[in-house]
Amino acid sequence: MRVYALFNRVLKVSIPYVSRKLEWITIKFDRIRYRRIWHHVHWVCAFTVHRPWVVIVTGVTDVNDPGLWEKHADWWQDEFTDGVDAEYEEQIIPLALDLLAGRDRILDVGTGEGQIARKLLAADADQVVGIDPTSSQIIEAIKRGGGPAYLRSDADALPFADDTFDGALACLVYEHIEAMETALAESARVLRPGGRFVLMLNHPLLQTPGSGWIDDQWLDPPERYWRIGPYLQEASTVEEVQKDVYIPFVHRPLSRYLNAMVDAGFGFKRMIEPSPPEGFLERAATYREAAAIPRLLVLVADKL
Ligand SMILES: C[S@@+](CC[C@H](N)C(=O)[O-])C[C@H]1O[C@@H](n2cnc3c(N)ncnc32)[C@H](O)[C@@H]1O
Repeated sequence: MRVYALFNRVLKVSIPYVSRKLEWITIKFDRIRYRRIWHHVHWVCAFTVHRPWVVIVTGVTDVNDPGLWEKHADWWQDEFTDGVDAEYEEQIIPLALDLLAGRDRILDVGTGEGQIARKLLAADADQVVGIDPTSSQIIEAIKRGGGPAYLRSDADALPFADDTFDGALACLVYEHIEAMETALAESARVLRPGGRFVLMLNHPLLQTPGSGWIDDQWLDPPERYWRIGPYLQEASTVEEVQKDVYIPFVHRPLSRYLNAMVDAGFGFKRMIEPSPPEGFLERAATYREAAAIPRLLVLVADKL
């Protein structure tokens, strides 16, 4: 707690990663105070490299606590679904529909409350099944209806026969999955040969933990730049994405995902790094500077 208090006094920090909210890292050093407490700042900065607030919250939350999504599913439902999130409406859902167009039977892995599953079925799929281990997501998905079938299941043990689906999607899910390789192998198993797999992630390079705008008043003249966090360090953490809302995350370098997809039997087709959509950029004039820094990464592969 002492660290936290000191940290707050010295650095004004908010983290943009994965909360998918419009936030900034702002570091303003008062030169005189900076000099006076130099050794403390140095120490605190060492924490910032490892996501400062994660260090602070690990004492009260457990990265393997399966109840975190259960407890906080309503945060996701309120903040990101049902048309309220510009990135979903303008970018994620249209991309999913486009990349899975023409696939009859589609699996939505980590479906949440089913927003993409519903849209896939309303487009041209014959059958869409959404799975999610979080019962409060599945209950909400069933309540919101729209036609897909929903099952409570983990991505790493799918309750389907081999070669069942023509397409599969996992949107902003794998960054919450510990057993990544097993989950990929399971998606490959239930897809028929030639079946399409679409993996959407918070961009693992540019949205690495600890990434964000730095408003650096220490430089002369002051500069604002995008800091990239410790990209090569794999890390399982619990993040406070909003006050009192704790969500488990796993950060991995992009090569881990690509190599695991190849090992699971996928033939890589495309990679898409879209600029944040207009509706997102509109939320703050200053965020326009981030238009050249993608928040989303899409990997498209077909089962060999
Ligand atoms: C950020 S939400 C995304 C929901 C949905 N895909 C969407 O785009 O609206 C992440 C979802 O992943 C689910 N999840 C967490 N661990 C999972 C696992 N091991 N297997 C499958 N889904 C998981 C959570 O329950 C949550 O619903």
